[in-house]
Amino acid sequence: MFDRTFPCGACGKALPADRPEELILGRNAGVICDACRPARTEEFRLGLLRKAGVPEQMLSRAGEMRRLPYPTVAPWVLIQGTVGTGKTWLAVELLLAVKDPREVRFVDWPCFMADRQASIGHDDREDPMASLRSFRGLVVLDDLGRERPGDWATETVNLILCQRYNDAAKTVITTNLSLPAISELYGDRVASRINGSISGVWQPRWKKDRRKRIEAAA
Ligand SMILES: Nc1ncnc2c1ncn2[C@@H]1O[C@H](COP(=O)(O)OP(=O)(O)OP(=O)(O)O)[C@@H](O)[C@H]1O
Ligand SMILES: [Mg+2]
Ligand SMILES: [Zn+2]
Repeated sequence: MFDRTFPCGACGKALPADRPEELILGRNAGVICDACRPARTEEFRLGLLRKAGVPEQMLSRAGEMRRLPYPTVAPWVLIQGTVGTGKTWLAVELLLAVKDPREVRFVDWPCFMADRQASIGHDDREDPMASLRSFRGLVVLDDLGRERPGDWATETVNLILCQRYNDAAKTVITTNLSLPAISELYGDRVASRINGSISGVWQPRWKKDRRKRIEAAA
């Protein structure tokens, strides 16, 4: 054994006293043994995804989800399907495969627009648009089209998507809407940019509302 030992911060196993503390995903993980490192990394990853805005309801089921590598064929992913068919689940599966979750943002689109609205005339409430527009990493826009419609929503979608298009920034859009409906709601510019940035429309796993199935089984 070692002359002097120091316990692994996770399991308590004796490690050499001169073993350095480790930095995992920018965070000090303390002194940790090789066997405990993967679980600690996963814990940190999930914590960062939580911070990135991924709903807890999804993260609590991360163990059941796939780690889906982001497609290399096109910069954007469009996930289209009706209510409860697994669109958000699929988008989160893409986030789980990202090496460094500090590079992702999950945006609940209706909430984002409501937060924008609430910030008007309130200096103490930040408009979330500013930080989203300066973010170049992978963004999930969840439930596009479910916000309150109007010129302002149209303009916000145009600003964000045209900029991300110019930057070729990775963007995942989930929506109930078909491309023609997107074109009708936000205009041709947005629909054309989406069309030019995807390699096809992704379908979620289920054909019918999965939540109803679960309720029916209960
Ligand atoms: N691949 C999957 N495996 C197991 N369960 C799943 C899967 N996809 C979805 N589910 C279940 O179905 C439910 C609905 O999925 P999800 O929330 O992703 O649907 P959605 O299409 O985003 O719905 P909405 O339109 O209401 O936002 C989830 O709570 C989850 O329990
Ligand atoms: Mg959803
Ligand atoms: Zn250990």
